[in-house]
Amino acid sequence: MLFRALAVLAVTTAAAAAHGHDSHAHEQSILANDEITVNLDVREHWMRVAIQALYDLVSPCPFSAFGTAVVNHTSSTGPGELICIAANTIADDGNPTLHGEIAAINNCTTVLRDSDGPFKLSPEETSQAWKHLSLYTTAEACPMCATAIRWAGFKEYVYATSSETLMESGWPQMSINSREVFRRSGMVEPSTAILTDVLYGETDPLFSWQFDSRAPCPAGCSRRVQGEACSPL
Ligand SMILES: *[C@@H]1O[C@H](CO)[C@@H](O)[C@H](O)[C@H]1NC(C)=O
Ligand SMILES: *[C@@H]1O[C@H](CO)[C@@H](O)[C@H](O)[C@H]1NC(C)=O
Repeated sequence: MLFRALAVLAVTTAAAAAHGHDSHAHEQSILANDEITVNLDVREHWMRVAIQALYDLVSPCPFSAFGTAVVNHTSSTGPGELICIAANTIADDGNPTLHGEIAAINNCTTVLRDSDGPFKLSPEETSQAWKHLSLYTTAEACPMCATAIRWAGFKEYVYATSSETLMESGWPQMSINSREVFRRSGMVEPSTAILTDVLYGETDPLFSWQFDSRAPCPAGCSRRVQGEACSPL
């Protein structure tokens, strides 16, 4: 299991290097470490739910456009079941750990534990639940979030915009990306499969305007004054 997941990781990073990251030419529909294979259109559906989480929880053009959806891919044919959504809410909360992925782990814990909700899990059952779940995030996880994803033991981690693209767009990043964190996490069981670059064409524009005053705003937003930050229409 572990070695197969690492093999997938090695393949994705080798493909990224071979194509050059700008081309993003290596979209993959299937992860090898599971008997369930999920079609790319289902992957894209859930990534759009992660994008929609920004609109639903923050705004059409939040500065930190990091949205997340956590999904149970219960079978290879159906779309699967949404467990929770979340978004980066540092600006609203002041808590610096509330990146989209950490916010999702927090919110899903609340949803899974909720005695009035659909799951009603105990703490022990909640701890065991993550290994069935897939986390979709609009951008590649930072080392804090990548580590949290690995400690949770998610089945899969799926991202859209890469950390290279974030850096090219001016986003400050730790100089260790999530693929490196995953590569170094082999002692932590269960392993988490990784799927890169899903729907980056729709997410890259969410991150391209914050540090470039000439870049167009995401749909539903505009710069009221030239050079000003994008805000909802
Ligand atoms: C996820 O789906 C699997 C397979 O159907 C099921 O056993 C598991 O209980 C589900 N997890 C949650 C949290 O609903
Ligand atoms: C938590 O997830 C639920 C289910 O998707 C959603 O309705 C709710 O708005 C989310 N709450 C937060 C704080 O993100």
